[in-house]
Amino acid sequence: MSRLPAGFVPPVAMDPHNSMPMYLQLSDWFRQAILSGQLRPGQRVPSSRGLASELKISRIPVLGAYEQLQAEGYLETFQGAGTCVARAIPAVLVGPAKPGRPRPLSHGVNGGPNGASRRVSQRVAQMRGPEQTWLANLGAFRVGVPALEHFPLGVWSRLVSRHARGLGKEGMVYGSPMGHMPLRTAIAEYLGATRGVRCDASQVLITTGSQQGLQICAHVLFDDGDAVWMEDPGYPGAHQSLRTAGAQLIPVPVDEDGIDVAQGERLGPHARAVYITPSHQFPLGSTMSAARRMRLLEWAARHDAWVIEDDYDSEYRFGGRPLVSLQGTDAHERVIYVGTFSKVMFPAIRVGYLVVPRDLAGAFEAGRDAIDTFTSTLYQYAMTDFIREGHFARHIRSMRTLYQARRAAVLAAIELEMGGRLAVVGADAGMQVAGLLPPGVDDVAVSRAAAQRGVSVRPLSQCYLKPPQRGGLILGYGGASLEEIREGVRQLSRCF
Ligand SMILES: Cc1ncc(COP(=O)(O)O)c(C=O)c1O
Repeated sequence: MSRLPAGFVPPVAMDPHNSMPMYLQLSDWFRQAILSGQLRPGQRVPSSRGLASELKISRIPVLGAYEQLQAEGYLETFQGAGTCVARAIPAVLVGPAKPGRPRPLSHGVNGGPNGASRRVSQRVAQMRGPEQTWLANLGAFRVGVPALEHFPLGVWSRLVSRHARGLGKEGMVYGSPMGHMPLRTAIAEYLGATRGVRCDASQVLITTGSQQGLQICAHVLFDDGDAVWMEDPGYPGAHQSLRTAGAQLIPVPVDEDGIDVAQGERLGPHARAVYITPSHQFPLGSTMSAARRMRLLEWAARHDAWVIEDDYDSEYRFGGRPLVSLQGTDAHERVIYVGTFSKVMFPAIRVGYLVVPRDLAGAFEAGRDAIDTFTSTLYQYAMTDFIREGHFARHIRSMRTLYQARRAAVLAAIELEMGGRLAVVGADAGMQVAGLLPPGVDDVAVSRAAAQRGVSVRPLSQCYLKPPQRGGLILGYGGASLEEIREGVRQLSRCF
């Protein structure tokens, strides 16, 4: 085994009031740390001079403890390389440093290290469902994954390293909770031109993605127990983020015209807000009709309620004219617009944005500050240049053509391999498609079987708050090549 670098040594606990000699306290501490796995075989320990100075004691007890531990075989010394934990300590003697597998939580209670019950919050307990085996691989149809192999990584890394090298003091200290002003300006211009969003940079707040954007909305707008209409089926990430903030979700049915506003008025007349994906409903893919949009905005204005518009993938529409966002048609400033770079760049970028009503900007700034202060400055700088230098618009244009071809390939493969067994629903847009399974087929079982064949499809039933009448599957095609799409659908057709 090769020697490990110094690594992190946990704080050495010394009690000045303990009658035990210091060198014994120290040697006891090291023995425990080695046996419990906090210090690993081969890991370098601090020099005697360094440790004595850190503990503000003389060097003599440290030398005494190290000598003792060497004599017992816990430590060994190498000429010129300092003192290390002995490599010969059998791994079985050394306690586990690996965390256990997370266990499902139930009713706010978790299995403790000794099997004892330990409470966690009800909010978190209700969040953890069955194990999502379909997320264990990156095979065809993983929802939310774009065509990563087509991302201009060379350009992006050049921008990131340019900014990393020249970061300067301003880029290394705390930034504004609202985000980097040039990026906010670029986003405001982009949204105005492409989505009809009416805003200026003062209304744009940079987030670490939509998930956080929704969480900030909930913290700023809701109190515990406030009712919120939720599209049913809807985006599970929104269920999570709104619930953790204490919102009470009211499932409102969705059809080919989007959320059923009349039903919402009946089911939750006094709701504080509504969460919707009007451009491309997640997961069923419908586009909200103009009549429903008008009715929803009127309801929100009349009831002093907020409309949270999640516009997660509207850059990709393949048929018809581009749609104006709901925010762009709202005369009463009731809409909070949620956007992300996860689809148009890549999910791990963790940069997104909110557009908030002008009078709420201060409240949102305070709420964001309380949650996690601000988004990493380096990626904000690089993203600004990526937009300003035209790479962003170019990438979106080429991905639109690519996804259109991938979508056509999925539909053709489903038709060929599965015929009537998967009934595709939804509009010609985005990076995923939903299909309904024949009545009685368990979509979780199909997703599990598909995962075993290396195919990642998401069960539709996981998106419902109320148990659905019929199961289905969501297929993300953004990250799958034409060949992977054909083979993926072939494999999928064997799963039920
Ligand atoms: C409806 C919806 N909103 C938002 C997101 C993206 O979230 P984030 O920006 O947190 O990556 C997704 C990703 O799959 C989504 O499906």
